[in-house]
Amino acid sequence: MIRIPSYDLSSHNTFGMKVKCALYIEYSSLDELRAVLAEDLPQPVLHIGGGSNLLFRGDFPGTVLHSAIGGISFAEAPTSPADSTSPADSCCPADSTSPADSSCPADSTSPADATSQADSSCPADSTCPADSTCPADSSRCQGRPDRPFPSPADDTVIVTAGAGVVFDDLVAETCRRGLWGLENLSLIPGEVGASAVQNIGAYGVEAGDVIDRVFCLDAATGEEIVFAAADCAYGYRDSRFKHEKGRYIVLKVTFRLTRRYAPVLGYGNIIAALEGRDLAALTPSDVREAIIRIRREKLPDPAETGSAGSFFKNPVIPREHFERIVASVPDGKVPHFDLPDGMVKVPAAWMIDTCGFRGAVKGGAKVYDKQPLVIVNATGSASPDDVIALESDIIAAVRSRFAVDLHPEVEHV
Ligand code: EPU
Repeated sequence: MIRIPSYDLSSHNTFGMKVKCALYIEYSSLDELRAVLAEDLPQPVLHIGGGSNLLFRGDFPGTVLHSAIGGISFAEAPTSPADSTSPADSCCPADSTSPADSSCPADSTSPADATSQADSSCPADSTCPADSTCPADSSRCQGRPDRPFPSPADDTVIVTAGAGVVFDDLVAETCRRGLWGLENLSLIPGEVGASAVQNIGAYGVEAGDVIDRVFCLDAATGEEIVFAAADCAYGYRDSRFKHEKGRYIVLKVTFRLTRRYAPVLGYGNIIAALEGRDLAALTPSDVREAIIRIRREKLPDPAETGSAGSFFKNPVIPREHFERIVASVPDGKVPHFDLPDGMVKVPAAWMIDTCGFRGAVKGGAKVYDKQPLVIVNATGSASPDDVIALESDIIAAVRSRFAVDLHPEVEHV
């Protein structure tokens, strides 16, 4: 366990705000987390993931907790969907009402390597033939990376990842193994625990679409509780965990992925980015590479420029309101996406741009030129006040011009 008083959080928020907390604790097992929660900690307590969706308004007076629970493991899905206990989790209570078992892999003993049950019968990735003569049990063989051996019986693989796993490491590994489901979420910053809280999404896929279960510690009772995805109330960047702040601490997440060809290519410019490719022969890694190219064109490189990704959510407005906006625009052209319920989603980036904020600067904070939905720490020394001042100006201008209230996607603490 790592425990540091008066800790500089610069490297724990992707905005790069130079702020401190009274106490920082990083735990790496369920037992350590339980022990920490039993202490008399400086208040309030904030649990962070990769700090990629946070704006600290200033120094944080309380305790910042961070999970270092790692491990990625792979297991065949149960043959019957009704059987909810997957092999990798066989010592975990799948029944959400049962208390945690201390031997559950949610703690730090979780296998961090790739040689878990699902792979044990595979002769060797590199030599596995990609045809029906595979000597291994075809329903278990992972096959060559990106050339998964076909498994007609059941293509589903349950992937378990600790809350502290870097989300893109998980995406890279699942793509490398030829598993479909997470590839469109490539390069999203942050960690697995936060992905289940925030329901991260990109290019037509949301984490909630592929999450199977979320294993949490209920801070109120000290018990482990397992939520099936259907009980997580997933919506656009939303989940039950966001509404019961601080109560559930994610320990690990299981994802339901598939070996069967299942690309999601309908969003925006993915097909264009795959131009020249035989779409029928795509692998998850091909799609991942295309997504990475698209993101790199539009979003700042987190290694060079601090930001928290999209700063605002995209507003959803009634059709009449949308028509009024169309009528108010000289060329009558407003990008939009019709939602099934008669509502219309209008890209916040377009509104911000139309209000003249592309490239706008406030102290060290700046509206990113290539994507006005993103506010960046342009100088590396922007203060929280710079960002908040720019945010307020944008909200006021969009309200005045379009009568729409923009809401930050980034959590302010
Ligand atoms: N849209 C569609 N279908 C499309 C294209 C766009 O429905 O084919 C909708 C999207 O739902 C989106 C809106 O139109 O809400 C605007 O889409 P655009 O692709 O321009 O993306 P964006 O608003 O700039 C959003 C996410 C990004 C994500 C991209 C790609 C938010 C606040 N941001 O950005 O997420 O990478 O879509 O999917 O929803 C982030 O959350 O930090 C982030 C970068």
